Amino acid sequence: MKNLLSAKDLTREFAIQILDTAAEMSEVNDREVKKLPTLRGKTVVNLFFEDSTRTRTSFEVAAKRLSADVINFSAKGSSVSKGESLKDTAQTLEAMGADAIVVRHSASGAAQKLAQSGWIKSSIVNAGDGTHEHPTQALLDAYTLRHELFENPLGQGLDGVKVAIVGDIAHSRVARSNLALLKTLGAQVWLIGPATLVPTALAKQADGFFYSFDEAIEAVKFDAVMMLRVQTERMTASFFPSEREYSRIWGLNFERLQRLPDDVVVMHPGPMNRGLEIDAKCADSANSVILKQVANGVSVRMAVLYHLLSGGND
Ligand code: CP
Repeated sequence: MKNLLSAKDLTREFAIQILDTAAEMSEVNDREVKKLPTLRGKTVVNLFFEDSTRTRTSFEVAAKRLSADVINFSAKGSSVSKGESLKDTAQTLEAMGADAIVVRHSASGAAQKLAQSGWIKSSIVNAGDGTHEHPTQALLDAYTLRHELFENPLGQGLDGVKVAIVGDIAHSRVARSNLALLKTLGAQVWLIGPATLVPTALAKQADGFFYSFDEAIEAVKFDAVMMLRVQTERMTASFFPSEREYSRIWGLNFERLQRLPDDVVVMHPGPMNRGLEIDAKCADSANSVILKQVANGVSVRMAVLYHLLSGGND
């Protein structure tokens, strides 16, 4: 595999292979010297046209732990402000010797465009394109679930695991990539949120959907709840009456957490709007794996770079 553009491109077999490789990378990350020579001589470019804390830094850490050189590009402060295009920006950075370009862009389809246009030869990793996809987030979420739920996760999918994806589904690339990958790995997925934020086309791909979080909690014994950020920056209309109302009906609060199974896994891709889609008591509870998701992101991104750039190629 040369590029990672969409979670839909991952077969079950290859996704499990990446998760198993990530488990090996995680052992490296636990060592005193957290470094492998695997990508020595390779260059990874982080090409970020949208803000990021977790994804950009974890790709940087991942590439450096595999001994690759890293070029970090942020559109802010670059010649993009002078009108330079995606094509010219990518070609300029590739001319400096890139082997892989990790791209985040506000336009859905930007990573596909780069990969399929013939503008550049490097491997492309989609680090989030508009509301479309965020495949490495789905991989790190699957990795986290596998390690939280199974004693012997290696070689396993997520067969029979019941996952609720809750909140602003409509604007969420995390939801789209997770729905695709979780289904590929055998999980059952429910979408929960206001009717205005649960697109019918996505609901049809899920095992079910609810417009009430409380009804969902009554109906299904969830193994995990994945709370989504309310993406007000992408909203061009009013999708719910007020933040207070949203938090009351669709937010994860401690009272709701107590009605979920005792060992339910609480996830959030970050960044969180504490007090809106999740309250602080839940985000910081013993059920929360939110910081483990971040830590696992490094191992998973090491595995992805390894498979795309080295002999791990499929
Ligand atoms: N989850 C995620 O993509 O976070 P960042 O926007 O901080 O990269």
